[in-house]
Amino acid sequence: MHQNASRYAVQRGLDLIAALLTKFSSKGTRLSQELPKYQSILREAIDGKAITYFEYITTDWGGDTPFTRHQYVVCSEQQAEAILESAPLKLPLLIPAAFSTTSSMANIRINEYLTYLSTKPSVDVHDYGEDLDAREKYIHPTIISSADAIKLFRDPNIEPVNFLNLAGYRPNPVPACMANLRQYSILRNTMEYDQSGKATNVHPNDLSSCTSFQILGKAGVFSMPHMDHHGVITTIRSEEGDKLWLECPALQEDEIISWGRDNVLALPSFPVYMTDGYIFIQPGGRAHSPFSLTDVHMSGTMHWDSRSMVPVLEQSLLELQYPTITNEEPAKEFNLKLARISELWNTHHPYYPWADEESRMEFNTLHKVGIDSCHLDLVPATPAKCKASNMPLGLVGVAG
Ligand SMILES: [Fe+2]
Repeated sequence: MHQNASRYAVQRGLDLIAALLTKFSSKGTRLSQELPKYQSILREAIDGKAITYFEYITTDWGGDTPFTRHQYVVCSEQQAEAILESAPLKLPLLIPAAFSTTSSMANIRINEYLTYLSTKPSVDVHDYGEDLDAREKYIHPTIISSADAIKLFRDPNIEPVNFLNLAGYRPNPVPACMANLRQYSILRNTMEYDQSGKATNVHPNDLSSCTSFQILGKAGVFSMPHMDHHGVITTIRSEEGDKLWLECPALQEDEIISWGRDNVLALPSFPVYMTDGYIFIQPGGRAHSPFSLTDVHMSGTMHWDSRSMVPVLEQSLLELQYPTITNEEPAKEFNLKLARISELWNTHHPYYPWADEESRMEFNTLHKVGIDSCHLDLVPATPAKCKASNMPLGLVGVAG
């Protein structure tokens, strides 16, 4: 049933894209240059295969049981908790509002959130009507007054805008299915400066700040395929509005490399339709390219799984080599958090569950490779640069 809703969402998306391309025909804008490319990706999408909790837990993920890479699980929040606790996540999870305990919390409607935003002096805006003359603008949004940003959001006669770089607003952002599982708290709770209490320094756009965020997108906004940085697991909840979450199957390393080199994904994506109160939990390292079918407000969180730190490191090293696979720059706090996690893992700290000894050795080897190849100072006084890629380490975190 959910597959049918997702298939219908693709058609709605294609219809809206056709209307936007007719309505906004001026050349040189982000919309006119990128939307036709997005349209092709959406046209090539194939149906995903929604499976149940029972199908998921009876699959032997390390064995020979055949499974398709276009699967996702539709389950209750209690079932999601059991999946998340049992082992590192293999497939995306979709929790429809009717099966979500978190859904008993009131949704944060768009009007309410815009009223809140109007208390702020400025908002970071990705404007799809902006002239595209530099890649910098993809990553760095324009900072404009909140009053002007809200006008852009509300005006149907100008191109869509996306507000991606918004701090968390929901007071209880972590979905109930993760809130009691320590392994998913390691990103939030491992303080890079080893605080045991309140942070004394604020790093507004860095990893710790990305652990909770909001996204507000006008109908028609889209993101080209990307991975969220540093192998984070992303949870996303629709507070109000319809989102087409276009998800790429898990890519093998050679497929990530060819994508980073040629900018073409090896596999078609599949659609996952979300509406008010739906929660989507995306494993780390998954490429995705969401589209807003209506105006949409979303709350989200980012996590690492303490049992999956090797893939976090593997992806982060690939991002340094192929920076276009993510829409975010490497996080300044990454090396500091990783150094702290390395200490905890190597002393077998009992608070977090860890992967096996072979993985710990692999983690240590990769960690050393990362430090050696990038000459990273573990405690930089100023924002560090990776000399291998000459990329600054730090800046904006966006999920959408
Ligand atoms: Fe994203």
